[in-house]
Amino acid sequence: MIWFLKRMPLLIVLGLTVLVMSNCTMLGMNYASLETGNKPQPQPSLDVPAITGNAAKRDALKQAFEDTLYGPWPTAMPVAFSAWRVVEPDYLDGRGTLEEAEVTVGSGEGARLFHLVVAFPKADRPAPVVVGQTFSSNCSVFPGEPVTATDMTACTGSEMDGAMGTLATQIFGRYIAVAPVARYFDAGLAYASFYASELVPDRNGDAQAVMANLGGATNPTSALMAWAYGFTAALDVLEADPRIDKSRMAVMGHSRHGKSALIAGVWDRRVAAVIAHQSGFAGAALSRSETGEGLVRMAESYPHWLSPNVQSYLADLSSLPVDQHELLALLAPTPVLLGNGRRDVWSDPNSTYRAAEAASAVYKAEAATGLTGDGMQSFDPAADLAYWLRSGGHSIVPKDIDAFTAFLAAHLGGAGAIESPVQMAN
Ligand code: GCU
Repeated sequence: MIWFLKRMPLLIVLGLTVLVMSNCTMLGMNYASLETGNKPQPQPSLDVPAITGNAAKRDALKQAFEDTLYGPWPTAMPVAFSAWRVVEPDYLDGRGTLEEAEVTVGSGEGARLFHLVVAFPKADRPAPVVVGQTFSSNCSVFPGEPVTATDMTACTGSEMDGAMGTLATQIFGRYIAVAPVARYFDAGLAYASFYASELVPDRNGDAQAVMANLGGATNPTSALMAWAYGFTAALDVLEADPRIDKSRMAVMGHSRHGKSALIAGVWDRRVAAVIAHQSGFAGAALSRSETGEGLVRMAESYPHWLSPNVQSYLADLSSLPVDQHELLALLAPTPVLLGNGRRDVWSDPNSTYRAAEAASAVYKAEAATGLTGDGMQSFDPAADLAYWLRSGGHSIVPKDIDAFTAFLAAHLGGAGAIESPVQMAN
């Protein structure tokens, strides 16, 4: 006892040091390593010819992701949608219109309704489109516009108004909620957006209940799969509109919604490009990685994001039959942008790069470019697997929008491409 009391100050200092050090990673105060050659190769190793040339093997790999991580893709889940309601006929000083459709997913009493808001540029030909899926309600994505709130009334304010919103914007970046639609118009794109939680709530317990009740032949069992299906429903709406070029529809999401954007790109091959910004675990980061959040912690904190089956692999991640480089490989040859922040160690930029490096072999076998450049700091928006690393943390900042629009312009052929690849400083 006396021994303990005497050493109490030292023990307190030690305890605080451990606490601060572990939180540094979470708070974005560490840097992601830029060295990849000294880390393990992604496992299982990729069977490149099989994934490239053999539809049955590709399907088997998709099935393995469904069986372990994501649960079933809700094949043939009904999607219905309303006519457009024009929210703003002279949007952005007449550069386009802002319109909204009600989209229903599922059937019977458990069917879910979400609002898809689209900014159509005035154009003399069908426009490419990027569909964003968001954490924030449509009120915050289009502040000041009378789009429909989740309680079905017209929005009157944004979640980003007030002190808490200002703080959130300081931490998570200027574009964490509000969409810079003028930037997408500048790049020649239409911009569509929906609030993922309006489809399936981002709450453990509620999410599973909503999914089980959707009334499809196959209901999703993970929120990530359900949100990915939200992209599919949005594409159904968009491709029915002659103002949209249905061969040039991209999907985009940040963090948990970057995970679902990657999934959508694999299970819905209409997706012409994917932006997965800071998607992390169960996204583009390797499940076997020993840095960052880790799949185990993610599955414990957000059990509704993944299939319940994942639980049986968490005690030994090496038993997982798949890893995320294979998810990226299944996307080939679809162009993918993986956005990263050097201080966003939580999302694991290093293993994300190694996953992309491994998947590159499949891109190349599919006559696409895969990663170009040499290392985590070279960004080539025209590459089919484009890796973007900037300074800073888990956020959406103006530089990210530069990267997104450069990538979209390069792959979907809008105007406004950044002329040369950007080199990031350390
Ligand atoms: C949490 C979670 C991540 C996720 C992130 C986000 O931090 O641990 O896995 O990507 O939320 O969605 O912002």
